[in-house]
Amino acid sequence: MATAKSQIAKTKNKKFKGTKRDTFKSMVDILLGLQWGDEGKGKIVDVLAPKYNVVARFQGGPNAGHTLEFDGMKHVLHQIPSGVFREDCMNVIGNGVVLDPVIFKKEVESLTEKFKMDLTKNLVISTKTAIIIPTHRMMDAAQEKAKGDAKIGSTLKGIGPTYTDKVSRHGLRLGDILSDKFQEKYEAVKARHLQWLSFLEYTPEGLEEAEAIFFAACDFLKSFKLAETEYLVNKELAKGNSVLAEGAQGSLLDIDFGSYPFVTSSSTTAAGVCSGLGVAPNKIGEVYGIFKAYCTRVGSGPFPTELFDNTGEEMRREGNEFGATTGRPRRCGWLDLPALKYTVMLNGVTQLVMMKADVLNIFENLEVCTAYKLPNGEVTEEMPYDICDTEVTPIYTTVKGWNCSLEGITDFDKLPQELKDYVAYIEEQVGVPIKFVSTSPDRTATIAR
Ligand code: GDP
Ligand code: IMO
Ligand code: MG
Repeated sequence: MATAKSQIAKTKNKKFKGTKRDTFKSMVDILLGLQWGDEGKGKIVDVLAPKYNVVARFQGGPNAGHTLEFDGMKHVLHQIPSGVFREDCMNVIGNGVVLDPVIFKKEVESLTEKFKMDLTKNLVISTKTAIIIPTHRMMDAAQEKAKGDAKIGSTLKGIGPTYTDKVSRHGLRLGDILSDKFQEKYEAVKARHLQWLSFLEYTPEGLEEAEAIFFAACDFLKSFKLAETEYLVNKELAKGNSVLAEGAQGSLLDIDFGSYPFVTSSSTTAAGVCSGLGVAPNKIGEVYGIFKAYCTRVGSGPFPTELFDNTGEEMRREGNEFGATTGRPRRCGWLDLPALKYTVMLNGVTQLVMMKADVLNIFENLEVCTAYKLPNGEVTEEMPYDICDTEVTPIYTTVKGWNCSLEGITDFDKLPQELKDYVAYIEEQVGVPIKFVSTSPDRTATIAR
């Protein structure tokens, strides 16, 4: 039998190869939004998914609404990854996500009914995923109400309170539903919530009924594959299988780098993939950064290029800019380059995807914000710390619009010259190539270069 000493000597003689980037067979690519969400992530994940073995959500929860259109059908996903319509693609809900069992159940039932899918086969959910319980939603509503005019404009899905419980180490995790102590743990969390709700003078109406639905949904979840998905994802990579991490929300809503406090409660940037899926930074490959050819925002918070005039109204109409989760009208405005450069930097974007070019077809000229003027007269191309309290004035450059239909164009070279110039201008400003241009909601209307 080898002694410990001889074992060490043997190990020393072996050349240690280490965990260099190039020794991994495969990487995690990321697709994430570079603006305030709703950039079209669902559509592009669905387009890219056939290239990947696994599609994984790493943060956010049912505040997301990812729209997919194909074969004349439209479907909005909230909790389930957008690789779900591609055969042989495994879908993972990672530990960084917050999951509402009730919304999940409804979503699964709708997919089963509409598409005859059996999601127990190609969906795996992390046991470490935080669970949204009925009182989390009530706390969201109570907190927003208490904020009055300063409200965040939350989707009221309980996202903030659930992440708060996770970080303050009071929360419930999906793995807990398998324990016979689940009810006990639940009651303890609920009791804290009820105290808090009483402090905010909020009456938790309909709680008993909501709880019955919640527990039924937890039972429903037990028929799915629940696992330590960090092992699963890393094993897939070790086998040489490819993984696409699907972002929710957008980088300008990031808890650290967004316009705080008008943000969501998770890390929406590339950094969130490592903690939200359990993959190391040296396993990150391509970062697809997706942005609209203009900007939208839903909810409160600063939006320097927001248009309050007819042009903004036309963008909303042409782009059908109404929230996929809440139906709220989205605020619309011109493309904001300082904001885009900021999020490209934060995420290490390697390829850009430009969405909804067709929405700008109606305009003869387009404005692009290149810098901000601060109240003291200073001009900056960086995001000011106090953007929520400072009136920044965008400085615009006018570029010529294409002012024609893009319908039926499938080849980048056949796009109108003005659109190609717009693409080249953004690439030059941002320093990253635009590899895809999207011209309609349908999966097929995606021009690759
Ligand atoms: P996500 O949250 O990033 O997945 O985006 P949403 O689904 O919330 O919002 C994007 C909306 O734009 C959806 O209604 C899509 O169907 C639609 N959409 C996506 N790409 C295009 C495009 O190129 N042109 C137009 N007109 N609509 C698009
Ligand atoms: P997808 O994934 C757009 C916004 C809300 C609000 C703020 C905080 O579809 O792009 P929350 O419910 O997280 O407490 O809300 O963030 N928001 C989104 N806006 N798209 C989303 O997701 C969003 N998820 C949250 O409107 O301003
Ligand atoms: Mg959306």
